[in-house]
Amino acid sequence: MRIVKTITLMLIMFIFIAVVVAASSQIMLRPHPGNYYENYKGFTDMIVGEWSARGQQFTTWQSQYVRKVTGWAVVGIIVLFALHMITVGRKELPAGGEEIPWYSLLNRVVHWLAAVSVSILVITGLIMTFGKYLGGGAFVRFLRYVHGVVGIFTVLPVGVMLIMWAKDSVFRGYDITWLVRFGGYLSKSHEPLPAGKFNAGQKIWFWISTLSSIVMFYTGYLMFYFSATTDGLRTAALVHNILAVLLLVAFLGHLYMVLYIYSGALKSMINGKKYEKTVQFLYSEFYRKIKEG
Ligand code: HEM
Repeated sequence: MRIVKTITLMLIMFIFIAVVVAASSQIMLRPHPGNYYENYKGFTDMIVGEWSARGQQFTTWQSQYVRKVTGWAVVGIIVLFALHMITVGRKELPAGGEEIPWYSLLNRVVHWLAAVSVSILVITGLIMTFGKYLGGGAFVRFLRYVHGVVGIFTVLPVGVMLIMWAKDSVFRGYDITWLVRFGGYLSKSHEPLPAGKFNAGQKIWFWISTLSSIVMFYTGYLMFYFSATTDGLRTAALVHNILAVLLLVAFLGHLYMVLYIYSGALKSMINGKKYEKTVQFLYSEFYRKIKEG
């Protein structure tokens, strides 16, 4: 039954990918009449259009605040991680015991599809934001299409992820203890904190990444197809760019956790298993449940 479910979902994903690839070739070839330059110019004209109305205000927001906040957020988070690395360092987790199945094949396929596509969105988004300092040009304009097409594709893995992990990500009473102690990240000691299949920090990342991705998709769609009034497009651009900063910081936090802090996290998202001792230590409430049957 489980294998049928997995194959069906993977088939749906495959069909979706085929449709996106077919549709995107249309977008790439004929996004709007005219060449890339005209399309891009049409886009920017529309965004900063009427200077007499709110255009000036919008441009100021975009260039003075959003770009600066994005730049400083990236610098700030890297400095914070560096400080954390020096003062606290990584968590050496207890390992050993039998291997417990943790992430199903579907979990892993969906996760890695989301990881690759969101990484492309982050990289192309950052290049677009700072394009003017990189000389602008056809390459940056081309990336706008890549960003749009990959954005459409991302809805699928993120949507499936939302359904697949929502139940495990509902906050429970014991998450308060985890949050009050800040997950133990600020101390070198290794005391276990209560957690279900996901701890409170993982749950926060889950809700930020899935829910904000949906808003990003909708606002991105409005901008890509100019499906709103000038003021609507400006609002969409602001919401999209401000949310992008939150998502970017959370995304970098996720990478720091899984690639540096927790040894064995990456392996578990590849082979789908976690050591019993690690589960007992990190996910005590979940461990108690499986032991009670
Ligand atoms: C290159 C980028 C990424 C890498 C290397 C990565 C890696 C990982 C790893 C190793 C885990 C397992 C953590 C554990 O069990 O302790 C994980 C979990 C997870 N990932 Fe990612 N991930 C990436 C991008 C993403 C993206 C873009 C999303 C969402 C759109 C996402 C959402 C999640 C969620 C919700 C979990 C489960 C909760 C958690 O462990 O935080 N990941 N990821």
